[in-house]
Amino acid sequence: MNFDEEINRNKTNSLKYDFKSDKNKPDDVFPMWVADMDFKCCEEILNDMHKKIDHGVFGYSKNDETYFNAIENWYKQNHNVELKREWLITTPGIVFALATAVKTLTEENDYVLINNPVYYPFTEVVEDNKRKIVSSDLVLTNGHYEIDFEDFENKIKQYNVKAYFLCSPHNPVGRVWTKDELNKIIEICKRYNVFIVCDEVHSDFIWKGNHTCILNYTDIQNQVILCTAPTKTFNLAGLQVSNIFIPNEKVREKFQLELWNTGYSLINVMGLVACQSAYEKGQKWLNELKKYLLDNVNYVDTFLKEKLPKVKLIYPEGTYLLWLDFSGLNLSDEKIEELMIKEAKLWLDNGKMFGNSGKGFQRINIALPREKLKAALEKLVKTFKNF
Ligand SMILES: Cc1ncc(COP(=O)(O)O)c(C=O)c1O
Repeated sequence: MNFDEEINRNKTNSLKYDFKSDKNKPDDVFPMWVADMDFKCCEEILNDMHKKIDHGVFGYSKNDETYFNAIENWYKQNHNVELKREWLITTPGIVFALATAVKTLTEENDYVLINNPVYYPFTEVVEDNKRKIVSSDLVLTNGHYEIDFEDFENKIKQYNVKAYFLCSPHNPVGRVWTKDELNKIIEICKRYNVFIVCDEVHSDFIWKGNHTCILNYTDIQNQVILCTAPTKTFNLAGLQVSNIFIPNEKVREKFQLELWNTGYSLINVMGLVACQSAYEKGQKWLNELKKYLLDNVNYVDTFLKEKLPKVKLIYPEGTYLLWLDFSGLNLSDEKIEELMIKEAKLWLDNGKMFGNSGKGFQRINIALPREKLKAALEKLVKTFKNF
């Protein structure tokens, strides 16, 4: 476990490092955008994957009881929630599951509610499937984002909302929703019969407060699709494996049909091996990783306060994606982007990708070795300190 190790990811088919020109980015920018980590996966997972490779046969494969048990134990121990095997459906990724949920729960032109600024594929999967998005934008007060519950309820009523995509913890603003907030969400969604699709992919990275799994609220279970995956936690995104839990039998059957309609039926065998191994053997690695990441978060916090105080970190309660407020520099979004790419030579995610309320912000991924993070921050200061 050496998170300081700098691993060269160039020419490894990495989306982050190798396809810059596809996204109109110059070759010399340092990428800190998409949410994967620059760390090596944990040794135990690698060993299990090596065993599978050495076996040498990669025929059609299916997840069994032991696969479920590994997930069940993880969620019991880490999130204090009881999952049932019959609720589980695997998908090749969470975004795939979100798209399937849209088709399961809504008809064309129905509205799906989100809280911008939020992970942009939420909007994409809704609109690509000819449904409509309505956002109850989060409200920023004193460096803290909150849901405006009056607006949330009004939007549901006004647009006859059928489904709500809840990002818990929230990417990019880093909120870990409190029990009180989740209770309010649930109460309103119950009242208006709005199905909650809850994306908890970042829930193993909590820095402040307590994350509560939506399925801990037993009275809403019938109205919930819970999306989980080991891919953020253990840096397995390229293995495309995620675990979706749907307690409502009718909805689960419909979701399964929608999934089959795409032609997908069986899990990728390397994803299967890695997922099971991660949940069975990855706890120690994760505990160490979390310490390292939290140190990175605090490094950025202190660094910006000392050297670039006009750029404000929205201190995250969870996730390794930091939300930086550049509005204090009084520069247009275009100018910030230009300076970031051409002078700082850093590729972050521009806040406006997460909805209009993200304007003036940048999202930075800090899951990388500290020395690399320090070098990037120095470039940021050099570029923006005189504005
Ligand atoms: C909130 C959230 N959901 C889903 C994903 C992607 O999940 P997948 O790669 O399994 O589709 C991400 C990746 O950044 C994310 O931040």
